[in-house]
Amino acid sequence: MAWSKALLLLKAQSLGMLLVNEVTWPEFAHQYLVVFIEVKKSVAPLNFLVVGDWGRDGLFNQTIVAEQMGIVGTKLNIDFVISTGDNFYENGLTGPDDTQFTTSFSDVYTQESLQTPWYSVLGNHDYRGNVTAQVAKELTIRDSRWFCSATYQFVRERMDVEFFFVDTNPFVESYWRENNKDYIWQLAISREDYIAHELKNLTTALETSNAKWKIVVGHHTMRCVGKHGETQELFAQMLPILEANGVDIYINGHDHCLQNIKRFDSPLHFLTSGGGSEAWRGRGNNENKDVGLQFYYDGQGFAAVSMAPSLFHVDFYDISGNILHTVNLLKN
Ligand SMILES: *[C@@H]1O[C@H](CO)[C@@H](O)[C@H](O)[C@H]1NC(C)=O
Ligand SMILES: *[C@@H]1O[C@H](CO)[C@@H](O)[C@H](O)[C@H]1NC(C)=O
Ligand SMILES: *[C@@H]1O[C@H](CO)[C@@H](O)[C@H](O)[C@H]1NC(C)=O
Repeated sequence: MAWSKALLLLKAQSLGMLLVNEVTWPEFAHQYLVVFIEVKKSVAPLNFLVVGDWGRDGLFNQTIVAEQMGIVGTKLNIDFVISTGDNFYENGLTGPDDTQFTTSFSDVYTQESLQTPWYSVLGNHDYRGNVTAQVAKELTIRDSRWFCSATYQFVRERMDVEFFFVDTNPFVESYWRENNKDYIWQLAISREDYIAHELKNLTTALETSNAKWKIVVGHHTMRCVGKHGETQELFAQMLPILEANGVDIYINGHDHCLQNIKRFDSPLHFLTSGGGSEAWRGRGNNENKDVGLQFYYDGQGFAAVSMAPSLFHVDFYDISGNILHTVNLLKN
């Protein structure tokens, strides 16, 4: 082990962190804490892929999406992958030893360029299983790429961008109805407390951030035209916080499609990347379906982002490697 790495490891351990792949992971399994990660590799541009709604043992074209991610990942020399949740279908993981972690993640994303950190949020299907296991360090020990926590913050040194990963699941009312036995709320024991702490954490983190680019990642849709429709609870409770604090982009999964929405009544860009496996589910009948809709693709694929200090560039790819849609956001 090189000296610098050994020193980093010591520093990380003294802060209660675990060092994997030269990334200092924060303490695991935090419920409320907005935590902080720095990737040491810090030269622009910053390139990453975004994929969501994927873990199906390679089925439903998951493997083909992975191959294409590998090709684009090599071309861009990506720094990391973001997962927008619904990591393991249908019912999350049973525990830290669940073989599905291997068959749906480690054995599927085998391409060299994808051997990089995966920053993940939890989706509703993950909450049907053992979410404590999904955010525990046992999984990162099994596959050092894996990082998942409920709500956390990721700061890229010298790139002027911060990512805020949020747990959107507890917001959804219908998951908490008495007759709904699908969800296991291990992290959110009390819904009110959990949401209040999370919104407070997010507000503090956004208010104190001086980053030029602020990007929020969550599983559920805020604005969308897909099958699930918009998550009312989120744009009622979370969107005002994002708008008041200069967030540029909200990235989500949940709808198994690719999507770009920029409405006249919000400064945010809403990007959906939920095409990691099963798709082709049909467009929903959302009344606002054409408000701000720039792009919608009801099929498999992923998003590839390249950032320079004044540019956020995203290409949406299908499983054959075609670029379906491009977004360029500029900032001085
Ligand atoms: C896999 O992708 C192809 C090409 O987009 C599509 O025609 C096919 O329906 C997909 N298969 C599944 C199971 O989604
Ligand atoms: C869930 O995973 C945690 C460890 O991450 C484990 O301690 C616990 O026993 C698991 N729960 C069940 C019901 O298997
Ligand atoms: C997040 O909220 C918890 C609970 O309210 C609090 O203890 C913690 O200090 C907050 N963290 C940050 C970084 O604001």
